[in-house]
Amino acid sequence: MNEIVKGSVERYLYRLLPARDAVLSEMERFAARRDIPIIGPAVGRLLALAVEISGAKRIFEMGSAIGYSTIWLARAAGRGARVYYTDGDPENARHAQANFRRAGVAERIQVLVGDAVRLIDRVPGKFDLVFIDVDKHQYPAAFRKAVPRLRRGGLLLADNALWSGRVTRKAADRATRGIQQFNRLMYSSPRLFPVILPLRDGVAVCLKR
Ligand SMILES: C[S@@+](CC[C@H](N)C(=O)[O-])C[C@H]1O[C@@H](n2cnc3c(N)ncnc32)[C@H](O)[C@@H]1O
Repeated sequence: MNEIVKGSVERYLYRLLPARDAVLSEMERFAARRDIPIIGPAVGRLLALAVEISGAKRIFEMGSAIGYSTIWLARAAGRGARVYYTDGDPENARHAQANFRRAGVAERIQVLVGDAVRLIDRVPGKFDLVFIDVDKHQYPAAFRKAVPRLRRGGLLLADNALWSGRVTRKAADRATRGIQQFNRLMYSSPRLFPVILPLRDGVAVCLKR
């Protein structure tokens, strides 16, 4: 839990959430045991909502770990969708592939291993939605790669936009500076209409106009 929202309110929000199926619940427990920073169910639902409202079918995810957020995206996108999973760690990718099979979405996900900021160049065409969750110092580079690849009316989402409140600090570390710069880039782009939602650790949602 982060302290963006008062603890009691945050706990209230999480208590409201419906139970997840066996695959997602097990992934949540696995991530907690191994200290893997996944978006969790509240932000998972936000991703699913963004996909369903926009009708996104071509989705590129930058930083997918064990595939928890990928499953929320792929399930919401439905049959015929193409979701690109990316992670730099082959062990994560192996776990993710097993999870995709168990979740029944393996056929709509393409697993790419390597640097997501470079991998996006290897996939041709425009995307309906790009979700950024790589190392935080890479957010500006990810932003610069992602925005030109979104179709008009497409969505850019990014996790950790408030970074446990560290974004408010002046003398910041590399990760925090990356998020601060990313947030400035979003709000100064004439092509984007951004909103940062103070959900969990902050989620940026931008419409490309
Ligand atoms: C916060 S976790 C992703 C969690 C995932 N989005 C979820 O919520 O289920 C970040 C992941 O991004 C990967 N990563 C970080 N920088 C990366 C990069 N430049 N390219 C590919 N993967 C990267 C890390 O290996 C890590 O597994």
